[in-house]
Amino acid sequence: MFKQLSDNKAEMLTIELDAESVTVPAGISVAAAMLYLDAAATRQTPVSGSPRAAFCMMGVCFECLMEIDGSPNRRACQVVVTAGMRVRRQLGARDNGQAS
Ligand code: FES
Repeated sequence: MFKQLSDNKAEMLTIELDAESVTVPAGISVAAAMLYLDAAATRQTPVSGSPRAAFCMMGVCFECLMEIDGSPNRRACQVVVTAGMRVRRQLGARDNGQAS
């Protein structure tokens, strides 16, 4: 599928993915970071729980929705990683903060 071109000079930074510290190249999108980490699944569907991963990488398909720095339903392909960013896979429906 996708493969990172070799770039030994790439600056690396650390982000938090599902409460685990990981190191990724600076300047790439969160979706690209997920592919870089071989952790492609960005979310699970609310109905069946089937895994989804980035597909278009240009903000059209909405398959890459993730929680980024506490905000749910962010398109991971449209957000560039920053040091210390907190990224979580979105499992099922987003948490809208309301009790049911
Ligand atoms: S991969 Fe399609 S919107 Fe992000």
